[in-house]
Amino acid sequence: KKRVLSGVQPTGNLHLGNYLGAIRNWVESQQDYDNYFCVVDLHAITVPHNPASLAADTYAIAALYLACGIDLQYSTIFVQSHISAHSELAWLLNCVTPINWLERMIQFKEKAIKQGENVSVGLLDYPVLMAADILLYDADLVPVGEDQKQHIELTRDIVIRINDQFGTPEQPVLKLPDPLIRKDGARVMSLTDGTKKMSKSDPSEQSRINLLDSPDAIAKKIKRCKTDPIKGLEFDNPERPECNNLLTLYALLSGQTKEAVAQECQDMGWGQFKPLLTETTIAALQPIQTKYQDIMADPGYLEGILRQGRQKAEQSAQVVLERVKTALGFSLPF
Ligand code: TYM
Repeated sequence: KKRVLSGVQPTGNLHLGNYLGAIRNWVESQQDYDNYFCVVDLHAITVPHNPASLAADTYAIAALYLACGIDLQYSTIFVQSHISAHSELAWLLNCVTPINWLERMIQFKEKAIKQGENVSVGLLDYPVLMAADILLYDADLVPVGEDQKQHIELTRDIVIRINDQFGTPEQPVLKLPDPLIRKDGARVMSLTDGTKKMSKSDPSEQSRINLLDSPDAIAKKIKRCKTDPIKGLEFDNPERPECNNLLTLYALLSGQTKEAVAQECQDMGWGQFKPLLTETTIAALQPIQTKYQDIMADPGYLEGILRQGRQKAEQSAQVVLERVKTALGFSLPF
């Protein structure tokens, strides 16, 4: 089976973008692959963070993986910082990655503007740590949302460079991974502006629906979300980004095809559509929320899963780390 690796940062709550762009796709195809899903807590400290909640946020994301349907029969769940090889490989990769490759990253530039004077070295280095996450498991495929495509391309550039400098065509040092980006849901947009992606860092809570939002909160957010004055709803009209986004959410959350939704909604007004989307969203999230509460009620259960995950992930990570260190010429510890 091909190897899959992906991860989510424990910064706040997960929203529909994280779910539809990433986690739901992990769940749907997990039987076909050998999967590793990590909670990337080392990435969460690349911007100012709250030490009082980092650990709890990390466990909450792991619990959400399970609540969304990650199955331990096919998948390993672990915490990035529990495996020191991630930081160690990131250092090795740092020393062969030209700094200007990182300065070009769109996400770095966007986040750096918001941080002003306080941009950390870690924020610039974020994609190299992400490359280490992927490469330590010899991953073939990395299922993510559209916004991560550039980071995976950078990972590929790093692999090509290392293999070229330290490997041979017969014996490459690192495996070249491919992104796995589904067309639908790859870019879920904000509820307050259909031209901006739904994001954890948007200061407005109204801009996103979180997986753990109460039915009441979901109803309020959809009621207030941005629409347009045009009657009749349609996909793919560049002048109606909100309309396209809300119909896409409806299609994905109700499990219907785009064609079926286009037909169902072509003569609808917003007054008719919004209650439908509200009901569908609440129904889709309800089983996830119930399962999440069950998991969180038994901390020992989650701890056990993360302990096992760590043991399994560490084995794979050590093999690759030693392979890279050997290729770079290090003496291995006696
Ligand atoms: P994070 O936590 O920002 O996002 C987690 C996943 O959610 C996807 N995503 C979206 N998809 C569709 N529409 C949106 N509006 C939206 N917002 C977020 C992201 O594409 C991502 O798949 N850098 C990664 C974390 C990471 C990682 C890795 C991923 C660290 N190491 C190794 C894969 C492999 C990130 O963006 O996390």
